[in-house]
Amino acid sequence: MIAARHHWFHEVSSTNDVALQMARAGEPEGTVVSALTQTKGRGRLGRTWWDRPGESAILSVLLRPSTQADQVGHLAFVAGLALANCLESLPCSHVALKWPNDVLVRGRKIAGILVEAATSWAVVGIGINVNQREFPPEIAGTATSLFLETGQQHDVGKLVEQVADALLVEYEVYLAEGFKEILTGWRKYMWGLDMQATVQTGEETVRGTITGADDRGALVLVNDQGAKHVIHAADSVKLV
Ligand code: BTN
Repeated sequence: MIAARHHWFHEVSSTNDVALQMARAGEPEGTVVSALTQTKGRGRLGRTWWDRPGESAILSVLLRPSTQADQVGHLAFVAGLALANCLESLPCSHVALKWPNDVLVRGRKIAGILVEAATSWAVVGIGINVNQREFPPEIAGTATSLFLETGQQHDVGKLVEQVADALLVEYEVYLAEGFKEILTGWRKYMWGLDMQATVQTGEETVRGTITGADDRGALVLVNDQGAKHVIHAADSVKLV
């Protein structure tokens, strides 16, 4: 079993940056970097990841899969499944996984995942809204926190440890049994199934009913004419 090796910081630019420096310095798989706050927390597609010091679980886990390009995408599913299981066990109900990288509760975003990788390492960055009672106006309509969903304060440090352990367990399942096994678990939480959505990719907007994630983890939609769209990367997915 891969053991988590925790490194705790008060403030960093981004835990992903610290973890990738550690990766380059040869730190082993299972290295976990956490901080109370980030000055340059980042999300997917160059977006900013907002936190309030001490109220978010912020962690980056260093992995060293034998690299194949598609494994980077697979790791977002591994992390999503680990997060969903972990949140449900708290307990926090109504957890769903929004393709490809978001964790929702009752349709609002509670956590995000950012995977960054090079040939010999992958860093899985996870941000979870834990004890926030309110959010900045830009995200107030779409974000939620564990406190808002459960009515209870949660121990951020303990949650970081639980999430890191859950991630390493699912990662080992992935290594031993393959992506299919992860997808089976992930699909049980899939958000938006059988619902109409618009998906914005770099070049086009696709509208249709979400029918699932295929065996490679791509999002599948069927439009009103019955045409199937298989989407491997998107800027946004919104229900209509
Ligand atoms: C997203 O929702 O777009 C992904 C958000 C990922 C945020 C986490 S917080 C820990 C790690 N460090 C970062 O700078 N980003 C990730």
